[in-house]
Amino acid sequence: MMDKDYKNVKLQLETHFIGKRIYHYKRIPSTQQLAISFAETNISNENGTVILADEQYDGKGRGNKKWISPKGGLWMSIIIKPKIELNKINILSLIAAISVCEIINEISNLETRIKWPNDIVIDNKKIAGILIDSSISNNNIDYIVIGIGINIVVDTLKINLFLSSSDRLSQKVTSLQNEVKEICIDRYILLKQILERIEYYVFLVQNRTDYTKIIKLYKKLCNTLGKSIYVHGKDIKEFCAIAKDIDLDGGLVLKRENEIIEKIYCGEISIREIEKEK
Ligand code: BTN
Repeated sequence: MMDKDYKNVKLQLETHFIGKRIYHYKRIPSTQQLAISFAETNISNENGTVILADEQYDGKGRGNKKWISPKGGLWMSIIIKPKIELNKINILSLIAAISVCEIINEISNLETRIKWPNDIVIDNKKIAGILIDSSISNNNIDYIVIGIGINIVVDTLKINLFLSSSDRLSQKVTSLQNEVKEICIDRYILLKQILERIEYYVFLVQNRTDYTKIIKLYKKLCNTLGKSIYVHGKDIKEFCAIAKDIDLDGGLVLKRENEIIEKIYCGEISIREIEKEK
């Protein structure tokens, strides 16, 4: 199932463990689902295994949403078995976002930002999304699967057709090549550099590097801090708050309208100022 181009990328990867095994499929339901089943079955569950697909027909987004994944995107999932304490698990979600954001910006010259927790946006239009699944037992992280979806040359009208009207309203979508006309984005380079950058940050986290450095990097790229936001989610009653800070454990610190400070680790937010602009 591995094709020549990806094999090339694999050979040129300057990594120690990420991408030593790359499975590339033309069309599957979801790389995330497959990576989780690989991780669970002991067959292809090595640390750093990557699953790629040209097209997914049952792509998974956060919050049980669909992720529309036609040809023209980078759809991949990476199995990581991090050697870190359980209470640092949220840092992994941040480093995935930092890596994708940094590499997109370096390759395209765009100034994409991270919308908490890990949407990559340009002018408030979503260009990439990250989904983290994990398996935990006895207070240890068995594995995490980092799922990354980047719209490179996808028809965003097509994506919108498949989104519910509320999703369409709450988050506009774009594609990398819509935003940068003058450079042709090579998805193998994008892939290679993202894998290398994620590995770099995983090592930093594992080596107990001062997490403040990582949080600082994240905060620099994050477009959410200081904004008035709506917090919503499947099991949460929607509320408004100000996004104050990112804590050392990766949580988003909020100040609610009643002045109470609280911290959230997951859920969806929308930025209120942007909503007013619509
Ligand atoms: C989000 O909702 O923003 C997260 C989207 C994550 C999509 C990627 S595409 C590759 C991997 N396989 C999936 O089914 N989902 C993730």
